[in-house]
Amino acid sequence: MDLDSKIADTLALLKRIAADYSPAVFANSFGAEDMVLTDLIARHNIGIAAFSLDTGRLPEETYELMQTVRQRYPDHAVQVFFPNAAAVENYVKDNGVNGFYDSVDLRKSCCHIRKIEPLQRALSGKKAWVTGLRREQSPTRTDLGNQEYDAGNGLEKFNPLIEWTEKDVWAYIKANDVPYNKLHDRHYPSIGCAPCTRAIAMGEDVRAGRWWWENPENKECGLHVKEGGEVSAISFVSSVQR
Ligand code: ADX
Ligand code: SF4
Repeated sequence: MDLDSKIADTLALLKRIAADYSPAVFANSFGAEDMVLTDLIARHNIGIAAFSLDTGRLPEETYELMQTVRQRYPDHAVQVFFPNAAAVENYVKDNGVNGFYDSVDLRKSCCHIRKIEPLQRALSGKKAWVTGLRREQSPTRTDLGNQEYDAGNGLEKFNPLIEWTEKDVWAYIKANDVPYNKLHDRHYPSIGCAPCTRAIAMGEDVRAGRWWWENPENKECGLHVKEGGEVSAISFVSSVQR
C-alpha cells in the first residue's frame, strides 16, 4: 500500500474514532510517530484531544519540541499530566533520585509512579485512546491490529499507524514539514526519559537505547502491557536511513 493510501486510511480511522468513541484521547510522547498523528489531527481538525505524560525526567529536546508544538498547532493544546508529587518524594526518599538503575523492580516502580498512574488519570472517563504504535516495531506487535480492547485500562485502544513503516513516518514528516525531536537526528530513534535513553549504534535494535542496562525481556514500562502480562512492546531492528 502506498503512503497516500495509508494516510487516507489513517484519516478515515481517526474520524471514525472521533465520531464513535467520544471522548477519545491521543497519547502523545512527541516521538516521530506521534508527530505524524499530531499533524494529521490538527490539519484535519479532528476532535481527539492530546495528552502527554511528563515524567519530570524528559530530555530537554522533548521539552523544546513541546513548546514548538504549542506554537505550531495553537488550536490543539496537549494536556500534560504530571506524576503525583508525594509518590515521587517518597520514592526519592527511599531509593534516591536515580534509584531506577539499582534493580528492575525499582525501575518498574519509578515507571509506575511517573507514567502508569498518570496514564490511568489521563484515560479516566474516556471511551478510547490513540497511540503511535507500529506493527514493524517488534515481533510481538505483528499480531496487533489498529483496534483492540484494552482490558487493563477498560477502554478501546486504537493504533492508526500500525501499518506504517519507519520510512513512511519520515516521508510524511519531511513532506509536511512537521517539527520533530532533534534527538532523532542524533541516533535516538526511540525516546523516553533522559536517564533511561541513549543513542544507538548503526545496526543496533531501535529500542536498544531504552533501559539499555536491562535484559531485553524487561524493557517495557507498562504503558502497553496487555492483560495477563503480555508485553506489546519489545525490540526490533531498524534498517531505515533518513
Ligand atoms: S514505551 O512503552 O516504550 O514507553 P514507546 O516509546 O514505544 O512506548 O511509545 C509508544 C506509544 O506510547 C507512543 O506512540 C505514545 O502513543 C505512547 N506514549 C509513550 N510514552 C508516552 C508519554 N510520555 N506520553 C504520552 N504517550 C506516550
Ligand atoms: Fe523513571 Fe526511567 Fe521509567 Fe522514566 S523511564 S519513569 S526515569 S525508570
